[in-house]
Amino acid sequence: MELPGIAVAIWMFVGLCASVVGYPNGKVREACTSMVPCHGGSPQLSPEHAITVNETEFKPGDSIEVRLSGPDFEGFFIQARDAEHLGSPAVGSFVLADRRHSQLLTCAVSHTSKAKKKDIKVYWIAPGDAPKRVQFLATVVKKYRIFWVKIPGPIVSQPDALSPTPPSHATSEAMSTSHPVSHISKPFSASGCGMTKFCIRNPANCDPGSASCFFLSFQHEESSVFIEMSGPSEGYLAFAFSHDQWMGGDDAYLCVNEDHRVHVSTAHLKERSHPLLDAENALEDVSWRFADGVLQCSFRRSVRLPAYTGRFNLDTSYYIFLADGEASEGGLIHKHHCQPLVTDGLYNITGLPQDIGGSRAPRLIKAHGALMFIAWITTVSIGVIVARFFKPVWSHSFLLGKELWFQVHRMLMLTTVILTSISFVLPFVYRGGWSHQAGFHPYLGCAVMALTIFQPLMAGFRPSRHPQELNVTLSLKILFTMIIVTMFLGMDLPALDLPDPWDTYAMIGFVAWHVGTDVLLEIHSYCLIRKVIEDDRVQILQSLTSAEAEGHLFKQIVLTIYVCGNIVFLVAFLVAINQV
Ligand SMILES: *[C@@H]1O[C@H](CO)[C@@H](O)[C@H](O)[C@H]1NC(C)=O
Ligand SMILES: *[C@@H]1O[C@H](CO)[C@@H](O)[C@H](O)[C@H]1NC(C)=O
Repeated sequence: MELPGIAVAIWMFVGLCASVVGYPNGKVREACTSMVPCHGGSPQLSPEHAITVNETEFKPGDSIEVRLSGPDFEGFFIQARDAEHLGSPAVGSFVLADRRHSQLLTCAVSHTSKAKKKDIKVYWIAPGDAPKRVQFLATVVKKYRIFWVKIPGPIVSQPDALSPTPPSHATSEAMSTSHPVSHISKPFSASGCGMTKFCIRNPANCDPGSASCFFLSFQHEESSVFIEMSGPSEGYLAFAFSHDQWMGGDDAYLCVNEDHRVHVSTAHLKERSHPLLDAENALEDVSWRFADGVLQCSFRRSVRLPAYTGRFNLDTSYYIFLADGEASEGGLIHKHHCQPLVTDGLYNITGLPQDIGGSRAPRLIKAHGALMFIAWITTVSIGVIVARFFKPVWSHSFLLGKELWFQVHRMLMLTTVILTSISFVLPFVYRGGWSHQAGFHPYLGCAVMALTIFQPLMAGFRPSRHPQELNVTLSLKILFTMIIVTMFLGMDLPALDLPDPWDTYAMIGFVAWHVGTDVLLEIHSYCLIRKVIEDDRVQILQSLTSAEAEGHLFKQIVLTIYVCGNIVFLVAFLVAINQV
């Protein structure tokens, strides 16, 4: 029996045979064939390691769990071969069980961990043209020169009842080794987006081949639509057509990764609940691929499907949702961990091809974030500095009959109260009540809102000469600290998840900027008082005024720089909010 040369195996001779990575294919194939590690020495005789499988029967496309265990070892190499012709090339492909720390491996890829292991779990995926009986073989490297070659493992077989091998598509070795679990033949491309097909991409204009791109495309061909969906997900990807921007009553399509096989299903979404997958779907030409953490699937459906009640006609306009999330064993899907992407309007995917983006944050929540940043990064923080340090500077200038510093301070605080109040209402409008998923953020937010309103009332909204100045500053500082904490909590909530870890660093940067300015002015005031006292002997009046004048200039320069810095921070945050 002549087997197509599907040689797929797993190399872990790290450091020992690391150069295999750079080898041209032929050399790798040689290693795949001999299963002998490339460092000298001769193999040990009685093996200490054993291969076990969780099943003894398989059908094409099945995955079988294969374990290699025994005393500590550094490297390994597992192959599946036709049990009747052990000299023939390897069959099927392997996936490492721990997908987070490793990648899909082929003969040409080595794992970079030399760490000792006792137990390794991989999945073998039976190819469509698998022989009747397949045996697993392993080469194990314990230490540099201590290794075993072709340790025989269990034999698994196809049930006799099954008709002989389905028509074999003559895949070349290179093809099948580079796409071990692939059924999609041609990589997805964004080149026709906006011209021949309707695309939704997030981030904007990303390439569906890249590791962080969510991609959905609809190609209208006469009476059917060919759909491609791709994105970084270990669990599932789904999209839905909806009449509104809320979940519920929608027509959904899901690609679920279930033990290294991807199932494509449809579902009719009821109110924000678990989707019930349809037993039957009207999808054709289904294919999929899962590699390197990117899930892809494609299928075709008719524009109109009157026989299937849950399916919407595609010649109408809809909001389109794109979601991803985790799937547990058995393919049960969990709620998406971040907000689904939603288009900003109704789109007719069979109409004019477009290339659009979408947003993962609802507009009301974006407005909430933006107003809070404007209020607290600019108005309050500047108000704090002005109240604390600018009273002497501006106490002789008047605006509308009041001291300038007080007018500036009051204007900033009033703006804050107005912006904060508007912003405060928005999440409640959006949720239609209290959000129970937002942790401490709403509680702290309410406390901040209350203090924002009471702070001016309590600290007195009039220009006071003496003790209250300290109160204003102190209560403002407490409020400022609280709002910073609230913002830290808010930035990572799913409804407005600013990019990590950028948001944390930017916020820490802003706090450092504010505290730094505060400390600088504090030190400056202190020095100024010292100077005045020292110069006391000379001529009190003259020195006081000149020192003060000098101090005022310094303070004004610092304030100008501080305000510019705040505007830079504000713009950065607003841009980030706009891009979510
Ligand atoms: C063996 O493992 C494979 C891969 O995880 C799984 O699909 C299969 O159901 C398992 N079989 C048994 C009997 O547990
Ligand atoms: C959507 O586009 C299709 C094809 O151009 C057209 O027949 C249909 O009337 C459009 N629907 C809407 C609601 O515009």
